[in-house]
Amino acid sequence: MIRSRNVSFLCLLFLCAASLFACSTPQSSAPQTFLYQTDKAVQALLPIRPDYPDTRFAIVSDLHFYDKSLGTGGKAFQEYLDGDRKLLSHSEEIIAAAMEKISKERVRFVLVPGDLTKDGERINHEGVVKTLKKLEYSGPRVYVVPGNHDINNGAAVQYTGDDTKPVPGVSEKDFEVLYHEFGYNETLARDRDSLSYVLEPEKGLWLLGLDSCKWKENKPQAHPLTGGAFSASTLAWIESQLILAKKEKKAVLAFMHHGIMEHYPANKKFYGQYLVDDAETVSKLLAVYGVRLVFTGHYHAQDVTQKEFKDSGDFIFDIETGSLATAPCPYRVVEIRNGHRAVIRSVFIEALPSMKENFAGYARDFVFNGTITMANASLDQYWVSKKQQPLVTGQVAQAYCAHLRGDEKKPDPVINTEGFGIWLRFIAWMQKDLINGWWTDLPPRDNDLTIDLATGAVN
Ligand SMILES: [Fe+2]
Ligand SMILES: [Fe+2]
Repeated sequence: MIRSRNVSFLCLLFLCAASLFACSTPQSSAPQTFLYQTDKAVQALLPIRPDYPDTRFAIVSDLHFYDKSLGTGGKAFQEYLDGDRKLLSHSEEIIAAAMEKISKERVRFVLVPGDLTKDGERINHEGVVKTLKKLEYSGPRVYVVPGNHDINNGAAVQYTGDDTKPVPGVSEKDFEVLYHEFGYNETLARDRDSLSYVLEPEKGLWLLGLDSCKWKENKPQAHPLTGGAFSASTLAWIESQLILAKKEKKAVLAFMHHGIMEHYPANKKFYGQYLVDDAETVSKLLAVYGVRLVFTGHYHAQDVTQKEFKDSGDFIFDIETGSLATAPCPYRVVEIRNGHRAVIRSVFIEALPSMKENFAGYARDFVFNGTITMANASLDQYWVSKKQQPLVTGQVAQAYCAHLRGDEKKPDPVINTEGFGIWLRFIAWMQKDLINGWWTDLPPRDNDLTIDLATGAVN
């Protein structure tokens, strides 16, 4: 009896520990073959590698716009914050500060790879539209794609003291209407099965705006699905556009919400929903057709990773930009010159009109302390004593914050187990790959770098 209870307990423990920081969903199936694998006429097009035209653009991601009229106090809002780490109360001010800076960057266009709103509330979308209109008025064109929070989100609520009350959200049709002038009114082609599109922001350059979100599967009054996928039909559409780009000798860039490759070792194991399903298939498809840079968001981290396909010699970079709602509140500026030289620079919002001196520190403490609160809640579930918890939670928060900022410098040891009891040692051992992953900066550098789009070399 005792033994059987212990076995059940251990099984439960392993299951729970595996999901301490992660969850998973079934992977969607992708088509097994693409035209580049079977069609000789298409294969003959692959060596065509047009130069990238000179251009300069910015990327700002995961705005998570939040209109404060939805509530910033009370028990229900505090409970939300305890399970999240977004700077919602300052969201409008941070976004305004970022847009003000971007308007002075002399960029031709601005990419926003999704999670425009906290949870898809119509009022928040309207706030984003107003902000982006103002940015466009200052010069650059703005292009958006949805993130997992933006469409058919059952968690669109306002906070009314102890409770929440549903507020209107938006459907996929509403999204296209709302963001008509931020991509959808200048498309060369539109996918029928998603909100993906192609447009030409610069003569000779095609931009694939890819909708990787699972909004069709979201349920009313439930949290939206975090994971992302392309249907077989969308993948076929993407390939058709890449073939057309070859024929018309256009260089291609892409942007989407979900990552197309791991941003740290064990990324897929612990946070698989932050990568698009069948990420290997997607990154290979884009790389084969010479797409060198894909701009992503979703995980709220500043991270660049690269992938090389040894069989064909193709390569591709996933340039993830962190969230404006999470320290270090970044945006990026990319300048392409000489047909193949992409210079990437990162800028951080470090002051707000209401917090000129200490905003950067406040934002960092907010995510650090929020991570500690969430780690404490997890450790409570695994019966780690309140006395033992502080020995590890600060280390978890440090690793997470380092990953968010990018260009991580791994400490030695990765986890200092001094003072850990046997039980905490076991829990730490279960999570060591995640902590080590956050501290591991896969090449290349994350914030400021130059990429040769012809060879893949990084300076
Ligand atoms: Fe986000
Ligand atoms: Fe997201």
